[in-house]
Amino acid sequence: MRILVLGGTAWLGHTIAAASVRGGHQVTCLARGTGVPPGVRLVRADRDQDSALAEVATERWDAVIDVARQPAHVRRAVRDLRDTADRYLFVSTGNVYASQAEIGADEDAELLPPLSTEVMEAPEDYGPAKVACENAVIEGFGPERSVIARAGLIGGPGDPSGRTSYWVQRFASPSNDAGAVLVPHAPHFPTALIDVRDLAEWLLLLAGGHHGGIFNAFGASIPFPEHIDIARVVTGHTGPVVAVPERWLLEQGGRQWSGERSLPLWLVDRDWYGMNARSTTRAIAAGLRLRPLRETLADTAAQDLPGVHGPLDAGLTDDEERSLLDTFAG
Ligand SMILES: NC(=O)c1ccc[n+]([C@@H]2O[C@H](COP(=O)([O-])OP(=O)(O)OC[C@H]3O[C@@H](n4cnc5c(N)ncnc54)[C@H](OP(=O)(O)O)[C@@H]3O)[C@@H](O)[C@H]2O)c1
Repeated sequence: MRILVLGGTAWLGHTIAAASVRGGHQVTCLARGTGVPPGVRLVRADRDQDSALAEVATERWDAVIDVARQPAHVRRAVRDLRDTADRYLFVSTGNVYASQAEIGADEDAELLPPLSTEVMEAPEDYGPAKVACENAVIEGFGPERSVIARAGLIGGPGDPSGRTSYWVQRFASPSNDAGAVLVPHAPHFPTALIDVRDLAEWLLLLAGGHHGGIFNAFGASIPFPEHIDIARVVTGHTGPVVAVPERWLLEQGGRQWSGERSLPLWLVDRDWYGMNARSTTRAIAAGLRLRPLRETLADTAAQDLPGVHGPLDAGLTDDEERSLLDTFAG
């Protein structure tokens, strides 16, 4: 296939491009930067410019795979490529849904209203912007030639957010001599993590397929303590696990989900429990294959070593964790 990746210099786009090359396809990436995999042709362009796609719009493509967030970028690409590309695959997100509360909701769940402007300015515009992008793809290419992949939390080796690596790094390198690791007590909180490599391989499968569709592309949903157990198993951790009450952790300034001083992946609000527990029946029927979380975490533990990729990008520092453990022990 001749595949055009709009992106390719960041994590998912790079993984898609690399998998395409391995699959024997001719791959072109279009981005401003230069970090694309070997074997890929790079067209450097800024999609803020109206003529950004001029060079690639004259060529024929079997599939376009787009990771954009800005409606203006997607509208221009659809305008410029709909006559020369067979199919358009758009990487969207579960953040397009109006509610994150329901467990097991499928792709027919209500969406947020689309962003009314062409450019997303604030982080809270992310979901509405992706809705506007989805609409532009389906309007331009039609439902038969469009694939909308609404990804859940993407994880695996190289995760730039540090959310995948925190727990395995923490269990591999405890902050204290007792080997204790502090976790939030969240027995019913669902987590789901789709391996970036599984998502990339599935998008390539769909790129060569014949039908369009809208799909939730999420990892298997499991309770948070199971994720913790798997992280311990793959790192051989045998020390104590100190599960602390959620309210106490919030009072101590522990943050949720990602970033500094966070307990990565953790969310308190029950209205967000459905975010990691959406139906993936359609994607599985369309060929999505999910490797076991054990493999994702083991590969992450092996590749994203502390000191190789710098300090932990997300989560508690050693000092912060020791201090919280001391305070909790009282
Ligand atoms: N991480 C998650 O857990 C998660 C969950 C759900 C969905 N998603 C979706 O998954 C995708 C992640 O994709 P990713 O990791 O490859 O990329 P990304 O971090 O979203 O980066 C965007 C890509 O687009 C390119 N780009 C941005 N602005 C551009 C411009 N003005 N002109 C040309 N190119 C531009 C960037 O390249 P340059 O900067 O080099 O130009 C980069 O390759 C996104 O669609 C995201 O919304 C992520």
